[in-house]
Amino acid sequence: MDFPEYTLEALLRLVDVGVHVVDANGITRYFNHAAAKIEGLDPDQVIGRHVLDVYPSLDGQSSTLLRVASTLKPVLNHQQSFTNYKGNRITTINSSWPIVVDGKLLGAVEVSRDITEVRQLSERLVDLQARIFERPKKGSQRQMTRYTFDNLIGQDKSFLEVMQRAQQAAASNSSVLVWGETGTGKELLVQSIHHASPRSSGPFVAQNCAALPETLLESILFGTVKGSFTGAENRQGLFEVAEGGTLFLDEINAMPPNLQVKLLRVLQERYIRRIGDSRVRPVDVRIITAMNTDPWQAVQAGQLREDLYFRINVVQLEIPPLRKRPADIALLTQYFLDKYNRQLGKQVKGLSAETEQLFQTYPWPGNVRELEHAIEGALNIIDDGLIELENLPAHILRYQRQHAPAVAATLQPGQNLRETLATIEMQLIEQALEQSGHNISHAAALLGIPRQTLQYRLRALHMR
Ligand SMILES: Nc1ncnc2c1ncn2[C@@H]1O[C@H](COP(=O)(O)OP(=O)(O)OP(=O)(O)O)[C@@H](O)[C@H]1O
Ligand SMILES: [Mg+2]
Repeated sequence: MDFPEYTLEALLRLVDVGVHVVDANGITRYFNHAAAKIEGLDPDQVIGRHVLDVYPSLDGQSSTLLRVASTLKPVLNHQQSFTNYKGNRITTINSSWPIVVDGKLLGAVEVSRDITEVRQLSERLVDLQARIFERPKKGSQRQMTRYTFDNLIGQDKSFLEVMQRAQQAAASNSSVLVWGETGTGKELLVQSIHHASPRSSGPFVAQNCAALPETLLESILFGTVKGSFTGAENRQGLFEVAEGGTLFLDEINAMPPNLQVKLLRVLQERYIRRIGDSRVRPVDVRIITAMNTDPWQAVQAGQLREDLYFRINVVQLEIPPLRKRPADIALLTQYFLDKYNRQLGKQVKGLSAETEQLFQTYPWPGNVRELEHAIEGALNIIDDGLIELENLPAHILRYQRQHAPAVAATLQPGQNLRETLATIEMQLIEQALEQSGHNISHAAALLGIPRQTLQYRLRALHMR
């Protein structure tokens, strides 16, 4: 075997998707280990044999490989449930393509992803959500985390404005679209809206639209009836589970376009049809959606259908990133210090002057979640006193080293003058590189030295 062929072979053995290749006569030429595992077979039982010999229950139509090889039309993202050779119920998502070279049909290839576990877990989640929201029996108390507006900490004007509009929206039944960077508290806000709304005694059901393949997401949302496609059972979907309450669709811009069309139809017509069902069921569900990019940009980028956008965007709430809410950085710091002092039994008093200054200038790409983790992490290291720079996560310190004003440098313990000067020089060079987007000529110009000198210094200081 020559090198490329050997590499390809090794690669196909390593990937965890099933790969099945047949030639133009329907004889299996390649069948990787993942495919064998999915089917409960040995590659040897399949390679060199005709597809219909190995799978007697299939025919030229129902075998996607044979169908693709005869129609020359690919079949994409086809969900399939079957009992494999070991007797296990398996659900896969398959895509099949004809292999045509120089106008000649060589065969077909099928790629399958085993989503059995994902499917089982998603279905279990639907069942559990349904159980949680069953009307509580007399005497039993429903115990759940309920986030309300009181859990949302902030005092910055921009933040308070959003909270006020959110509280107004809670009183109505309108669709709400929340957006903001990761960790800004979108989920917290959405839950708060539900719990402050007239629907608060109804269910709150959340689904991330980026987490599931299209066909599975569709059946989880709308439900299925038995036999509608192979392996389907009578199951309610999240729209039914959320009846009388709120359905939170997170990362709505990741929902595949076809499903966006179906969702829009439900929102307009106010009834759903389980997959494979002829019966329609009325729905009384409030929809709240979220995403972490500007919704209109998502429309422009073709991620979010414009018609759906107008439907879900009745009230739009943008949570500003933490770096744009300086007053909240201090407030949230105190809030999380109290929380983790209590939780971990510590007596940390606050931040050192350097840490406080860094907290105000650091851009917090992970927003409130990142701040919370930084404080929780520090309180795992120290018991009392102040949080010093060295108690912070490495990536925040890296930012600090790149942006700290070098003039403030002092003689470091254990470093002589030459080493201290080298440290300052490295800081200045890092700053220049950062500001120039790592363009050497531009950085050299900022530093006022020739390009060759900068390259020499980078080598001498072992910076590259
Ligand atoms: N204003 C706030 N007050 C208190 N805690 C907050 C606030 N905003 C966010 N948090 C905390 O930050 C964390 C992240 O919040 P949440 O999960 O709601 O963010 P998100 O915007 O949904 O993020 P992602 O886009 O990554 O899903 C949570 O632990 C939450 O408790
Ligand atoms: Mg979220």
